[in-house]
Amino acid sequence: KREVKSICCIGGGYVGGPSAAVIANKAPHLLVTVVDIDARRIAAWNSDLLPVYEPNLFELVQPARDGSSGREPNLVFSTDIDQKIREADLVFIGVNTPTKKTGLGAGKASDLSWLEAATRRVARAATKDTIVVEKSTVPCGTANMMREILAANAQPGVKFEVLSNPEFLAEGTAVRNLLHPDRILIGCLETESGYAAANALADVYANWVPRERLITLNLWSSELAKLAANAMLAQRISSINSFSAICEAVDANIQDLAYAVGLDTRIGPKMLNASVGFGGSCFKKDILNLVYISESLHLPEVAAYWRMVVEVNEYQMARFVKRIVNSMYSTLSNKKIAVLGFAYKKDTGDTRESAAITVVKSLMAENASIHIFDPQVREEQIMADLQVERGDKQITVSSSPYDACQDAHAVVILTEWDMFSNKASKTLAPPANEAGGMANGGAAKPSPKHEKVDWARVGELMEKPAYVFDGRNTVDKAVLEDLGFRVEAIGVASSSRLTM
Ligand code: NAD
Ligand code: UDX
Repeated sequence: KREVKSICCIGGGYVGGPSAAVIANKAPHLLVTVVDIDARRIAAWNSDLLPVYEPNLFELVQPARDGSSGREPNLVFSTDIDQKIREADLVFIGVNTPTKKTGLGAGKASDLSWLEAATRRVARAATKDTIVVEKSTVPCGTANMMREILAANAQPGVKFEVLSNPEFLAEGTAVRNLLHPDRILIGCLETESGYAAANALADVYANWVPRERLITLNLWSSELAKLAANAMLAQRISSINSFSAICEAVDANIQDLAYAVGLDTRIGPKMLNASVGFGGSCFKKDILNLVYISESLHLPEVAAYWRMVVEVNEYQMARFVKRIVNSMYSTLSNKKIAVLGFAYKKDTGDTRESAAITVVKSLMAENASIHIFDPQVREEQIMADLQVERGDKQITVSSSPYDACQDAHAVVILTEWDMFSNKASKTLAPPANEAGGMANGGAAKPSPKHEKVDWARVGELMEKPAYVFDGRNTVDKAVLEDLGFRVEAIGVASSSRLTM
């Protein structure tokens, strides 16, 4: 029986950091170390201002990292990569695997250069038998590539076992997802030593995950299951978004439709919120990867099917922009537009592939003057995403929603932050303690930046007619209309069309 006492996580990003924090908390007898080539990220993990914003993450990191009464610290963040690999019985590789920008498969295939570099580093550094766990999302067959690299570069007598253990956390709910996973997949080689390694990893998870949720399967199935899950989740969003276009044309209501469809227990209610389009670092990348794999396997119909999920998402963003321009008398020139929300979803400061980037760039092309407020995204990040310099004539980052909305002709809601909602059922946002746009989360009282928007006040500040374009169905349309707004919501016919 293989036993794991020390774990090294290579890659201290959105996956590596939170995953390590949960293991360290739930398995205090294990030593868990996170290493990264980015020294600033490691320094941030060692500070009070963590490099990723996730509700309740700081509460997990701090006691495990610094120790507390009655517990020894067992969570370490370090740049001493080789040393930490050497000390570990099990190494997670959770590095970035973005879409390739150039070369063969550019724009579709995954760029595995970081994963390969990390694997080579493990091969060179390890001086004892080590279990190497592929945590990053990868094309199928990558575990075999890792096995080859490890075997070819191993120190004499050192043996590696490679496992696939894809991560299913969603940002904004990462801590909850890690503490209560629907399932943990452990892909292994179907050999005695493969199963022994899988059991050793299962023992780690069994510290807090019920055994029946630990699923062992072969390496290919495990790798493909991750891509399939993301593709099918994104497909639900594109499906509901395609219906939102029909709803807008025939005066049906997308929220009623989603509710009605989701009541079918075979379909279920989750991931059916129509929106301006899905974003995030995973969905588009993983579907394009699936498209590339399908093409490589000479399965063009399969590739075309999944490509449409991404195309409908692009169509949805373009449709939303068109609606804004058409509603505002076909010109945005010199009009002030307030954008509320820039993150790709609520409760994260992450903007990777955010629909807001696409929408704001399109509004810029219409010569609008755009004032952006997001409670969690830093100004430098917004500027970098939009490729503009500070002081740009068209883009201003506001520190409050009211500054953004002052004298605006329209408000465009692009992230479903609870603070923007005027619906009765929504709870207040959890975050607090932020500084410089990054926060540690978890305090009971919302910080001033997260206080609920007073829509009556917004209405008073704006030019008339005061438009709200709700890309997330975040506001109660009827309540805002009573306040005098013209509200255009996803999947609801335009008021102007109905009165024509
Ligand atoms: P990230 O970019 O936030 O973090 C990756 C980290 O790895 C970076 O800090 C980078 O500096 C580090 N790194 C790269 N090469 C390294 C090397 N050779 N040695 C040491 N450190 C190295 O990425 P992420 O969002 O955490 O995603 C990581 C992987 O997990 C990706 O494959 C992604 O598809 C997958 N995934 C992400 C999510 C998510 O919600 N973000 C969810 C599930 C799966
Ligand atoms: C996703 C998967 O959910 C997760 O399992 C995987 O590990 C990583 O990719 P993430 O991208 O962090 O997680 O968030 P998710 O909640 O899935 O949302 C992705 C995008 O879809 C966001 O832009 C979100 O706003 C959008 N979305 C989500 C919708 O438009 N409608 C929905 O009903 C749900």
